Amino acid sequence: MQGSGVNTYKWVNKEGVGVLVKYHWEPLKLPIRNLTQADADKIISQNYSHATQDLYEAIEKGEYPEWELRVQILSDDEHPELDFDPLDPTKLWPEDVAPMLPVGKMVLDRNPVNYFAEVEQAAFGTGVLVDGLDFSDDKLLQGRTFSYSDTQRHRVGTNYLQLPINAPKTHVATNQRDGQMAYNVDAAPGQSPHVNYEPSSLGGLKEAPKAGKDHEPAYNAKLVRQKIDRPNDFKQAGDTYRAFEDWERDELIANLVANLGICKADIRERMIGYFTQADPDYGRRVREGLEANGMQNGNPARGSRGFGRRPRRGEEAGREDGRVLTRSPARRHE
Ligand code: HEM
Repeated sequence: MQGSGVNTYKWVNKEGVGVLVKYHWEPLKLPIRNLTQADADKIISQNYSHATQDLYEAIEKGEYPEWELRVQILSDDEHPELDFDPLDPTKLWPEDVAPMLPVGKMVLDRNPVNYFAEVEQAAFGTGVLVDGLDFSDDKLLQGRTFSYSDTQRHRVGTNYLQLPINAPKTHVATNQRDGQMAYNVDAAPGQSPHVNYEPSSLGGLKEAPKAGKDHEPAYNAKLVRQKIDRPNDFKQAGDTYRAFEDWERDELIANLVANLGICKADIRERMIGYFTQADPDYGRRVREGLEANGMQNGNPARGSRGFGRRPRRGEEAGREDGRVLTRSPARRHE
């Protein structure tokens, strides 16, 4: 699968100048593969860890999966030329506006030896930054950034960042100390481990010199709580729908028909309204699929025809043979 950082960060150079950046992982060796609902139903009834098992076995055999890290970069401004807000996390940045630039590679070449220490206690979060990385004004990113480390202090423990799986590979010394399970107090050779303030005349830690100028974004605007003014909620969704292959659209409609079948009529209508705004054909096909399953105006009753039932292959949709996607549906709009 591809991976996406979704939110927008900033890269800041030594002069303190920032640009907007979005991260993407692109699989290098293997094609992107997805399961159809029918295949997933079959597999999951036998083995609910099939993806973990597949990854584990591939690594044991030396077939290491690889991803290229790519970034997209935009200047740090409003971008009025775009028909969406660049900080809206529901939007993809078109590649003709911000090309994908390869910057690195990740190879998964070792399985965890101790699952608890290396997986269960791993704590990934949006607030963990390295020098040169900064937050953008993306509102969703701010919410996530508070939430992840709070959760991890609760889930793993106050000093979760001291665990080897979470600690930075290059040691970063701070004056933070104590709390549950603390085992480490930072001190450089010859310095006093007893002083936890700075500046001190007693040999405590000294603040490191800055690696570059601070990033100082300038604003001449009101700070408000309101929705973004370029939501453009349906264009990229419609583009993605139209870029699908026929069988992919068939699968999508079949999945939606099955899942909306159990909803109240007014919810179904609202969803059909959204699909129609993305593409009239999209809305029409979901409506027809629901009608073919006996859903018209009323709410589904238990035992009614089609309640919770997925359309059989070839009925509304479905594809006999395949489940291989060569590219992600989400990127299809370009
Ligand atoms: C673009 C939107 C988001 C994405 C892509 C995302 C992605 C993820 C991922 C991949 C995980 C890890 C799941 C795992 O380890 O099994 C996670 C966990 C979590 N997410 Fe999000 N998330 C998003 C939005 C949010 C928001 C808005 C909040 C809260 C304001 C939030 C709070 C959390 C928390 C607290 C955890 C658990 C962290 C931990 O215990 O390690 N997420 N999220």
